[in-house]
Amino acid sequence: MVFWSQSERSAIADLWDKIDVDEIGPQALARVLIVYPWTQRYFDKFGNLNSVAAILGNPKVAAHGKVVLNALHNAVQNLDNIKATYSKLSQLHCEILNVDPDNFRLLADCLTIVIATKFGAAFTPEIQATWQKFLAVVVAALSSRYF
Ligand code: HEM
Repeated sequence: MVFWSQSERSAIADLWDKIDVDEIGPQALARVLIVYPWTQRYFDKFGNLNSVAAILGNPKVAAHGKVVLNALHNAVQNLDNIKATYSKLSQLHCEILNVDPDNFRLLADCLTIVIATKFGAAFTPEIQATWQKFLAVVVAALSSRYF
């Protein structure tokens, strides 16, 4: 089980309080699809992803970005139980969606970059360290049903 200090718990809760899921979620998913274009293959039902402008303006990308961030909210609320919280989601991504688990890390990195861009100097190295620890636990949990 992952140990979370009180200051780490507070840092994650405070940062999460400031995150607008409807803004950050679409930006993070769009960034993955632009920076790592091979990830587009998983979203062939989402329509036009043929250019940066198309991705940024695609309502299905925006909607799904919100879905992903809302799922992260579950992890924020269950810091001591992230693996179990994501067990079914991991199984879905593995067995039904056939998503290569390396992509979880790519999304986590894009999310961190979007947050750093949004919050600037307020996203201090200490907060970043805690945030990336949190995302590493999320990525491990989402990968846990792959074997
Ligand atoms: C932090 C990482 C991620 C989280 C929390 C997450 C969460 C979710 C959630 C909650 C759903 C909806 C599940 C349902 O309908 O029951 C979903 C669907 C999906 N996810 Fe993920 N996901 C993550 C990363 C990724 C990545 C990196 C990819 C591919 C590059 C991906 C591809 C998909 C696809 C293709 C669907 C189905 C979309 C649809 O047809 O509507 N996910 N994800």
